[in-house]
Amino acid sequence: MLTGVERIAFTGHADARGALVAIENNRDLPYAIQRIYYIYGAAGDAVRGKHAHKDLKQTLVCVAGSCDILLDNGHELEIVRLDRPDAGIYIHGLIWREMMHFSPDCVLLALVDRPYDPQDYIHDYNEFRSLVEEEKP
Ligand code: TYD
Repeated sequence: MLTGVERIAFTGHADARGALVAIENNRDLPYAIQRIYYIYGAAGDAVRGKHAHKDLKQTLVCVAGSCDILLDNGHELEIVRLDRPDAGIYIHGLIWREMMHFSPDCVLLALVDRPYDPQDYIHDYNEFRSLVEEEKP
């Protein structure tokens, strides 16, 4: 995994009736959730995201169906397939992300540490690359 991205395995409570995943602030996630959004009905050829964040933590979970998450730290690319409701990826660094290859039934849930703020977005890839260079020690 790239620095700034971690896989999270949630505890699934499965029994004969099915399965349940519970997510609590600061227990199952290393931060407190302030916002939830979810993406559904995305076309298989749609590409979403295509941005980085200046300062934001979020965890993505495909609670139904599947999709691919492209992660780019400015130097390396990684594509992570999300296809189970008890697994997520926690993104907390300066990472360009794109979501794609949505299955028709995909519901992609995002658990975010702050309210929506358009100012926190970096939509320009060259600006993202400049920020990556600035961040170098
Ligand atoms: P957008 O940023 O284009 O989604 P994605 O990152 O998946 O490509 O968001 C789509 C619309 O939803 C846009 O008009 C902004 C709005 N939006 C909110 O109002 N609140 C939110 O928390 C998010 C993530 C988006």
